[in-house]
Amino acid sequence: MNIVLGITGSIAAYKACTLIRQFVKAGHEVQVVITPAGKEFVTPITLSALTSKPVVSEFFAQRDGSWHSHVALGQWADAMVIAPATASSIAKMAHGVADNMLITTYLSMKAPVFVAPAMDLDMYAHPTTQANLNQLRSYGNYIVEPGTGFLASHLEGKGRMEEPDEIFRQVMDVLQPEGCSNCSQEGRLVGRRVLITAGPTHESIDPARYIGNHSTGKMGFALAEAAAAEGAEVELIAGPVALSVKHPRIRRTDVVSAEQMHEAAMRLFPSCTDGILCAAVADYRPAQCADVKIKRETQAEMTLTLVQNPDIAAALGQVKTDGQRLVGFALETAASAEALHYGEDKLRRKNLDYIVVNSLCDAGAGFGVDTNKVTIVSANGQQQSLPLADKSEVAREIIRRCL
Ligand code: CTP
Repeated sequence: MNIVLGITGSIAAYKACTLIRQFVKAGHEVQVVITPAGKEFVTPITLSALTSKPVVSEFFAQRDGSWHSHVALGQWADAMVIAPATASSIAKMAHGVADNMLITTYLSMKAPVFVAPAMDLDMYAHPTTQANLNQLRSYGNYIVEPGTGFLASHLEGKGRMEEPDEIFRQVMDVLQPEGCSNCSQEGRLVGRRVLITAGPTHESIDPARYIGNHSTGKMGFALAEAAAAEGAEVELIAGPVALSVKHPRIRRTDVVSAEQMHEAAMRLFPSCTDGILCAAVADYRPAQCADVKIKRETQAEMTLTLVQNPDIAAALGQVKTDGQRLVGFALETAASAEALHYGEDKLRRKNLDYIVVNSLCDAGAGFGVDTNKVTIVSANGQQQSLPLADKSEVAREIIRRCL
């Protein structure tokens, strides 16, 4: 495979040499594109010796004035890996600031892009950096999450570029899923594309307030990791949650409201083989969102008029084709038998193939906790009750039994 390795100005650039060695040893061709700041940390001579290719850095070669085509690199590559990626380069990538060869190459890239951030803990945690990384995720780029540990600044925290071994593994898991080192059951879901909705939705009342619910998204994110670990490509549509994804085969789309989740789900589902609807979608939203913050003094009492949100599960159930499978969730406050009855009703109404029922009456099940206790009901009436277990274990079982 042809890999463009982008190197930016971070002390972690020395690790790029090890990463090149791993790609080359595995039989891949590597073309380095380095920023001017990157050359302060690792020399082009070292890099060209390791890759057996001249390093690309400037738009023009100084000696003969020949032009380096970022467009040609974008077409040549099977993947682009930017390791290390500084906060500044990530910001430029997120906003299309094409002032060096690496960013123009990124903007011309047709192949999957992997970004391995490297920076100090405070820079990494800064909302600007996080927003820029989310922007890159929304473009479908894979973020190789940095590790936590001792940093060049002698501080300790999250921001250290992931080790070359792990970057290599994550890139290969995406490019060659059949050989995926992280797949259980020999990549049983390779070739499948699974849409998952997760978390709550927030329905704005005014610029400062919303109607929401207690969902944290843990179950949906655990399902996404479990499906990706078995080889599936995952389209995760996440409401507002404080969780991050780990597996590079998970492509995340962040939304806030039910209408946004509905739009994303309808757009992505036709290209998917399966859908798992785990989000706690608000059934209603305020009929109007006030333009300015509603003042307490203006009204002694307040009445909100709510209108129904689209039912995403039912909408997908209507457009579902024969080859597509849909799994819904039903979180009920009733005791088990009644909860199952409600669940079966939803399965039929929404044209689902399975519904995963859980009851808030069961200790250890529901919002915020790390465990869950569920019963899977299938369209042909079969019921399978799983014991109380960690959400990641429950997720693996749901994936195994429903997909
Ligand atoms: N669901 C959805 N869109 C909605 C409401 C629910 O996609 N607007 C999905 C949920 O993700 C879940 C299933 O439908 O997979 C059942 O959700 P639930 O809230 O239990 O069902 P409702 O149809 O909203 O019924 P009720 O709130 O009356 O229990």
